[in-house]
Amino acid sequence: MTGTDRRPDQQPDQRPERQPVLREMRWWDIEPVLELERELFPHDAWSPAMFWSELAHARGPAATRRYVVAETVDESGGRVVGYGGLAAVDGTGDIQTIATARDQWGTGLGSRLLTALLRAATDFECREVLLEVRVDNVRAQRLYERFGFEAIGVRRGYYQPGNVDALVMRRPADTEPDPADPSGSFDTSDAPDTPGTPDITERHQGTTTHG
Ligand SMILES: CC(C)(COP(=O)(O)OP(=O)(O)OC[C@H]1O[C@@H](n2cnc3c(N)ncnc32)[C@H](O)[C@@H]1OP(=O)(O)O)[C@@H](O)C(=O)NCCC(=O)NCCS
Repeated sequence: MTGTDRRPDQQPDQRPERQPVLREMRWWDIEPVLELERELFPHDAWSPAMFWSELAHARGPAATRRYVVAETVDESGGRVVGYGGLAAVDGTGDIQTIATARDQWGTGLGSRLLTALLRAATDFECREVLLEVRVDNVRAQRLYERFGFEAIGVRRGYYQPGNVDALVMRRPADTEPDPADPSGSFDTSDAPDTPGTPDITERHQGTTTHG
């Protein structure tokens, strides 16, 4: 648009930004998600096959995965600006991946995606949710801590190449939701004590997780 396309009474810069909409991730989202993936995880980006495999377990009564995308919608169509996925196995949820486009950082979108994944963990009746995060990814760690995740251990050299350690974080089911987001409630009913740290690495098709 050029300056002359605008009516004098129009002030587009002051229009309230529409928030991205969260919805289920489908196979046609894989391509735009991969673009973000390669930009945000340049050293260990997931392959298309890994997303296809995850989504294959995300539907039907035996589903063990929940994947969501965040999409902005404007006159020119939609743009995927965030995504996240959770796996649920034997009452343990696992944040497989979570990411938002750089131009969305600090807008609360990461919190909204995490809230959606924690809600999925409740739906799957998880007693706890685990994740791995690079020890040098302070921004993500702060987000997780705000939601009640606590560091429970380190996996040495988890991220290859680069040999970067992963912090393992855990959030029990009886954790209070993020106070800034009342919609992020977490079911506390019938949450039994959880055993020690499970080895969750082997459940990820031999790859690293991004959350
Ligand atoms: C980590 C990541 C998902 C966080 O996403 P995000 O969209 O920036 O998350 P949020 O905006 O919800 O929160 C980030 C910060 O912005 C702040 N924030 C939230 N809403 C805000 C708003 N409306 N205005 C200003 N700041 C805001 C939050 O307080 C938070 O800061 P804090 O952690 O110091 O409290 C994102 O940085 C990312 O994709 N990083 C690259 C991929 C990655 O590392 N993924 C995690 C792998 S384990």
